[in-house]
Amino acid sequence: MKLLVTGGAGFIGSAVVRQAVQAGHEVVNLDALTYAACLDNLASVADSPLYQFEQVDIRDGAAVAACFQKHQPEAVLHLAAESHVDRSIDGPAVFMETNVMGTFHLLQAARTLWEGQGRPEGFRFQHISTDEVYGSLPSDPEVMFTEDTAYDPRSPYSASKAASDHLVRAWGETYGLPVLLTNCSNNYGPYHFPEKLIPVIILNALAGKELPIYGDGSNIRDWLYVEDHADALLTVLQKGTVGRSYNIGGENERTNLQLVETLCAILDRKRPLNSGSYADQITFVTDRPGHDARYAIDPTRIRDELGWRPSVTVEEGLERTVDWYLDNSAWWQALQGRDGVGERLGVKA
Ligand SMILES: NC(=O)c1ccc[n+]([C@@H]2O[C@H](COP(=O)([O-])OP(=O)(O)OC[C@H]3O[C@@H](n4cnc5c(N)ncnc54)[C@H](O)[C@@H]3O)[C@@H](O)[C@H]2O)c1
Repeated sequence: MKLLVTGGAGFIGSAVVRQAVQAGHEVVNLDALTYAACLDNLASVADSPLYQFEQVDIRDGAAVAACFQKHQPEAVLHLAAESHVDRSIDGPAVFMETNVMGTFHLLQAARTLWEGQGRPEGFRFQHISTDEVYGSLPSDPEVMFTEDTAYDPRSPYSASKAASDHLVRAWGETYGLPVLLTNCSNNYGPYHFPEKLIPVIILNALAGKELPIYGDGSNIRDWLYVEDHADALLTVLQKGTVGRSYNIGGENERTNLQLVETLCAILDRKRPLNSGSYADQITFVTDRPGHDARYAIDPTRIRDELGWRPSVTVEEGLERTVDWYLDNSAWWQALQGRDGVGERLGVKA
């Protein structure tokens, strides 16, 4: 299948591109190369005849339309987005422009292509979204996000993603475009940009710096290994029912404090300090404004309808992730000088 992947130079998008090429799909990676992009993530497929790159900004409707006409993809996996909640607090405008209007331009380009080709049944527009659109859950473990949970976004980032989800559903209902949606939990794994919690903890620990935990560390997230997520996205693309959305979770709920303590224990084993534990570097810092208390995914639909489950526990995934960061210092050192990386963001509100 010929796939157009947006945001393929980012963390999750690059995992999707690598897996798709490995599975024999032709892939066009459409990416603007913002501060969050890294083409090195694609070194393993860059020379493949199945892979092509187009530097296009999804805020530019004409450029997006031209790219669709040039490549005539059979399916779109839309991952390009501004993705960092803290940055959305400091500067929400670009989140609206990219996540909302960018999605609009992609939908229009996809619709024009699909209608021009006589509305082929097999065409798919798959939109990759977040569980953050559902808002914040109480601590009761019985209560989880299902695909029917009402939207209740609480940050500029999640509001922009919720808006884009609504656009995708509207293009499905109004124009008949064959759309699919996925809402996933927090991803982690190799190539995670060094401004997000897990790489920040690993890299600060190794540098002897404080390990910042927002608030009291009791916020709960459901951690999804990025390679599992990419596998789930390709499964939804091939087996999902048009018009349906699928929640994708890791079945791994942990508090942020538990997660950081697990990382410290792994590092204590792999890179022992002369004395003490990396956990001694844990520091509690001012909480993020509007910090959602808990996210948890009910994975029933994707498990029962598509037979998909995550392959690793969070402990296994974190072990692999720490190994990857220990083995790939050149990758993350090159990114640490980028704008805002290493600074505390999102406290202005
Ligand atoms: N990382 C997570 O835990 C997580 C969880 C749930 C959902 N998501 C969603 O998954 C998708 C990918 O997330 P990620 O963590 O890989 O993001 P990322 O920030 O690592 O990568 C985003 C990519 O999109 C590109 N991009 C940004 N603006 C663009 C524009 N205007 N035009 C073209 N390309 C542009 C960037 O250059 C980058 O390569 C996003 O849509 C995000 O909302 C992520």
